Amino acid sequence: MSVAFSISEDSFYHEPSFSLSLEDNIHTFSQTNLMSNVSLYNDMEDGRGHADARVFAGTYEQDIARAASLISSAKHAIALTGAGVSVESGIPTFRGRDGLWNKYNPIELATPEAFARNPVLVWKWYAWRIGLVMSAVPSAAHSALYDMEKMGVIKWVITQNVDDLHERAGSRNVVHLHGIILRARCTKCDYSIWWNDVPKIPPIPKCESCGEPLRPDVIWFGEPLNEEALSKAWGIAQSSDLILVIGTSAVVYPAAAIPLVVKENGGKIVEINPDVTPLTPYADVYIKEGASYALRKILEALKK
Ligand code: OAD
Repeated sequence: MSVAFSISEDSFYHEPSFSLSLEDNIHTFSQTNLMSNVSLYNDMEDGRGHADARVFAGTYEQDIARAASLISSAKHAIALTGAGVSVESGIPTFRGRDGLWNKYNPIELATPEAFARNPVLVWKWYAWRIGLVMSAVPSAAHSALYDMEKMGVIKWVITQNVDDLHERAGSRNVVHLHGIILRARCTKCDYSIWWNDVPKIPPIPKCESCGEPLRPDVIWFGEPLNEEALSKAWGIAQSSDLILVIGTSAVVYPAAAIPLVVKENGGKIVEINPDVTPLTPYADVYIKEGASYALRKILEALKK
């Protein structure tokens, strides 16, 4: 299978990457009826202006109750998480006022070209982020998702996050779409290692097998996603009838298309985010709250 999707550089800046070369890639992505997702995508663009004006059917409590009821009656519910689920663990988001992309230029730090130009700078930045992840502890949001997995109500967590906080909270069924920051891989051979400590940079770490530079095992802008992870996430989405979308700005594709795959197959979307996103007009329930608070409330309702 050829996976031609890549993360678009357009998505560095808050605007959704509607120009992501979807058309070029549609015919190569055989596992999904992506064409109809493209039209949803365009609908979303039209719908964005209405998101703030969305009329909420119920009170906050009713929305929590409705989310819990939809989740418990789903046969195969999953979650898609983004940086907002780890922000309460002290790991910054990418977009928004305090977001990483507001302070750092991703073109200088998160592209293959940046790494070729200045590997020490890139590695220093990743070493700092590895330190953040290592010293973070899972939040109540990560724990609630694990509890939901244990209860059998959430089957998989698909995450865009490169931290391991879902796993450390206990979740077993996790797909990392954008790689994992605690692992490094060789730029030449298939050697990889997990960091036990924050790497000290310089020098840049080298492969113990062939001596070539190691790089963080994450997806950089302009790179294709890991074929296995993307294919797994897509397969999971296609067999799901509900997706809980938590803490993602829903602007980076293909991750942002995953809820639309569920929706298109007749499934429901429950979105948790303090801010509206391009996905909000498509959410069956939108909970305008932080991840930990909202997930705890949903968990309480599920246990009743
Ligand atoms: P973003 O930084 O784009 O979005 C974070 C989202 O979290 C925003 O919509 C916030 O409103 C929301 N948020 C903030 N605090 C929250 C809280 N307490 N609870 C719930 N939500 C909260 O992060 P992602 O959508 O994950 O890619 O970004 C997607 C990808 O873009 C990342 O994986 C990364 C980035 O460039 C790579 O690095 C490859």
